[in-house]
Amino acid sequence: MGDEILPKIGILGSGKGSNFGAILRSIQSGDLPAQVSVVISDVEGAGILDLAAAHNIPAHFVAPGKFRARLDEEAESSCIRLLTEHGAQWVVLAGFMRVLKGAFLEAFPERIVNIHPSLLPSFPGLRAWEQACDYGVKYTGCTVHMVDRGIDTGTILAQEPVPVLDNDTPDSLHQRIQQSEWILYPAVLKALVSGRITIRGRNAFWKR
Ligand code: GAR
Repeated sequence: MGDEILPKIGILGSGKGSNFGAILRSIQSGDLPAQVSVVISDVEGAGILDLAAAHNIPAHFVAPGKFRARLDEEAESSCIRLLTEHGAQWVVLAGFMRVLKGAFLEAFPERIVNIHPSLLPSFPGLRAWEQACDYGVKYTGCTVHMVDRGIDTGTILAQEPVPVLDNDTPDSLHQRIQQSEWILYPAVLKALVSGRITIRGRNAFWKR
């Protein structure tokens, strides 16, 4: 299959990029029929940018501006421009730690996906694995969902439970959640770019 007909994915991340790595491995093994056309980070020197560069994928740092929890208008426009220039048809958030606002959502309607390290709607926001430990739940997990205006509130596409063990620390729990993320995210993206998921309001229906 020629590269030119594969759907293009733009990735946004703030961290080490292990989910991005899992997506790349799934593409390289021929399982995920897509190509990553650009990787963008709001964190200068983030591991995800190094990983992209090591795979010859265009990697860009975009200075986020003065807000802590979101991009400022200029940063948002730069991201939209980069994604558009690189032909991104899907925007995949892989450990991106800022909320996206109106202009971004309007530029890619129903085309932005996120992975969150809990079983939403439990524990939205930051450090969800720590929230799960603090609360004392026996199961948490990870969720892949569409991105809307809220914080981790978009339509849920898939979830994978992960048990919380008696001797778990927040870090050990996060490590096990991540192992589930690396399987779940590429699988959901495969279904999504292949048109096997239909979204109606809050519900996502999978064609097997
Ligand atoms: C992942 O666990 C992801 O679910 C989480 O950040 C981590 C990024 O790891 N995202 C959020 O908490 C978003 N609110 P990675 O950089 O190794 O993929």
